[in-house]
Amino acid sequence: MTTLPDLDSASQAQANLVSDALRAHIAQAGGWVPFDDWMGQALYAPGLGYYAAGSAKLAVGGQTASGDFVTAPELTPLFAKTIAFQVAQVLQAIHSVDVLEFGAGSGALAEGVLEELATLGIPARYQIIEVSADLRARQQARLARFGEHVHWLDQLPLHFEGVVLANEVLDAMPVQAFAWTEDGTLAERGVSVSEQGAFVWAERPAGMVLEHEMSRRMPPMPGYHSEINLQGEAWVRAMGGWLLRGAAFLIDYGFPRAEFYHPQRAAGTLMCHFRHHSHADPFWAPGVQDITAHVDFTAMADAALEGGLDVLGYTSQARFLMNSGLMQLLGHLDPSDAQAYARAIAPVQKLLSEAEMGELFKVLAVGRGIDQPLTGFSRSDRRETLGD
Ligand SMILES: C[S@@+](CC[C@H](N)C(=O)[O-])C[C@H]1O[C@@H](n2cnc3c(N)ncnc32)[C@H](O)[C@@H]1O
Repeated sequence: MTTLPDLDSASQAQANLVSDALRAHIAQAGGWVPFDDWMGQALYAPGLGYYAAGSAKLAVGGQTASGDFVTAPELTPLFAKTIAFQVAQVLQAIHSVDVLEFGAGSGALAEGVLEELATLGIPARYQIIEVSADLRARQQARLARFGEHVHWLDQLPLHFEGVVLANEVLDAMPVQAFAWTEDGTLAERGVSVSEQGAFVWAERPAGMVLEHEMSRRMPPMPGYHSEINLQGEAWVRAMGGWLLRGAAFLIDYGFPRAEFYHPQRAAGTLMCHFRHHSHADPFWAPGVQDITAHVDFTAMADAALEGGLDVLGYTSQARFLMNSGLMQLLGHLDPSDAQAYARAIAPVQKLLSEAEMGELFKVLAVGRGIDQPLTGFSRSDRRETLGD
């Protein structure tokens, strides 16, 4: 059991505020809300939610002294530079200059990609869609030096030709939670308030859509509970309507379906982050901690196909980065300054290590009108593992 750090008074006050709002929300809904509603409010309720109320969130410069979690672009600029090589291949193949990033965090990925594309002499226009107002402000400050080359969009484009990037965005989308009951029927898990005012799990019979979706994805397993990201799937499916030409790289932690709904993963994949502590209780300190779920990449690939897109590649983050040229970038580091070299190498090891981010994180590419094989998947493309 993870021991969580004590909340400082400001965090406690924020958690109390968000909890009060959530209790009122649940009361208004008649005493129960489905978990995706709960998660959406806890993360995105305007002015209150984790991503909507200005907390630190991402660790600055990959330092665990700040923020709640570290993402790959924060760990090392070499992540973004390597991604830029893959971006460059697609832009050149389709004669486009456009990159669209979802959920750009602190702007680290955008900054690194723009810098590397400039080094490669490839013109780029970078657009960002960010639901968090304070992260958008952070991105605008960080990327101001790129001037007219960076724009923020308030809504999805009607048509887009270029490269789409989304690093750790799908895991931040609200998921529905379900449980197989002892008699083999499906229940939707949601949230109620106990007499003491605490948030508690409560089950209701699943509606038709959830029932239909789960019964085609896994056999009933009494006592088993997990999640399904229908919002993320709808987002990928909708991409088929506006991504007219190009490739989307969806980078996140997760597995193909057989592993996601593995009998041994009987307690689901919810994971919460606060000050670099991870645990599985989404009801702890609402609004103050991040709440995530792993990604079922089979579901995302299916959604892309349903939207009329091709599945262009799927592999581990480690393999994708090595295929895309990370090793060549390491070759440019100067080993004569041993300390600087060690500082640069350590985060790369974290990105590649099977025990850390290298294997749990995957890259799924979907798109349209791309005829040449993508370099990021030139070796160990695991698309065949995505089948049911
Ligand atoms: C875990 S953070 C990752 C940030 C950044 N991509 C990184 O790797 O450092 C999740 C980000 O996704 C954003 N987000 C979640 N849902 C989104 C959506 N539907 N459209 C755009 N951004 C979204 C959040 O606001 C947040 O910036």
